[in-house]
Amino acid sequence: MAEEARRGQGPRRAAVREAVMLLLCLGVPSGRPYNVDTESALLYQGAPDTLFGYSVVLHSHGPTRWLVVGAPTAKWLTNTSVVNPGAIYRCQIGKNPNRTCEQLQLGSPGGEPCGKTCLEERDNQWLGVTLSRQPKENGSIVTCGHRWKNIFYMKNENKLPTGVCYGMPSDLRTELSKRIAPCYQGSINVHRGRTEINT
Ligand SMILES: *[C@@H]1O[C@H](CO)[C@@H](O)[C@H](O)[C@H]1NC(C)=O
Ligand SMILES: *[C@@H]1O[C@H](CO)[C@@H](O)[C@H](O)[C@H]1NC(C)=O
Ligand SMILES: *[C@@H]1O[C@H](CO)[C@@H](O)[C@H](O)[C@H]1NC(C)=O
Repeated sequence: MAEEARRGQGPRRAAVREAVMLLLCLGVPSGRPYNVDTESALLYQGAPDTLFGYSVVLHSHGPTRWLVVGAPTAKWLTNTSVVNPGAIYRCQIGKNPNRTCEQLQLGSPGGEPCGKTCLEERDNQWLGVTLSRQPKENGSIVTCGHRWKNIFYMKNENKLPTGVCYGMPSDLRTELSKRIAPCYQGSINVHRGRTEINT
């Protein structure tokens, strides 16, 4: 009995399989092949355990071309006591036979004030997790660290993981970079019918 039932299912299962294949062929858009040049590829390498290459943008400033690379668990050369804060690197394309990359220091190595009710924690902030570039000539670059935290309220409450970003001009002069923290909100004092935000 069971044997018969199983034998009966065979052709039916095959028919279902054929129908599914047919639907896949008809309904799913087919992929288009393209070539990846593996022979003249430029290889840039970062230190191990830094997640070098997690984000990448091609960049140019005037005639100079760069590969800008994020390494969200890199250590800083300028302050090794910050725990794996993450960094971005610039790697020149052309006139760079050794394929070297240079770490860009975003933010002051010693730390900086971030607001009246703000104390920054840069450990494990994952700076360089995202990278983007304005798509115009000499476009500026923005990179973020989504795990940057405000620890001002840590004693009584929680750390506030609001994240931080840095924008920099296309010449990659980090001294002109600007900190952007759109999710930081200063203390909110609610008086009778009036809300005051101190940043
Ligand atoms: C881009 O930068 C280069 C080098 O500084 C400069 O010569 C050029 O005029 C700039 N182009 C624009 C559109 O700002
Ligand atoms: C490239 O590396 C070699 C060997 O380490 C070194 O001798 C040379 O000076 C480097 N070239 C540049 C342009 O840095
Ligand atoms: C490095 O960072 C730590 C933690 O933010 C800070 O306490 C220290 O002062 C900094 N050291 C230097 C040399 O900037």
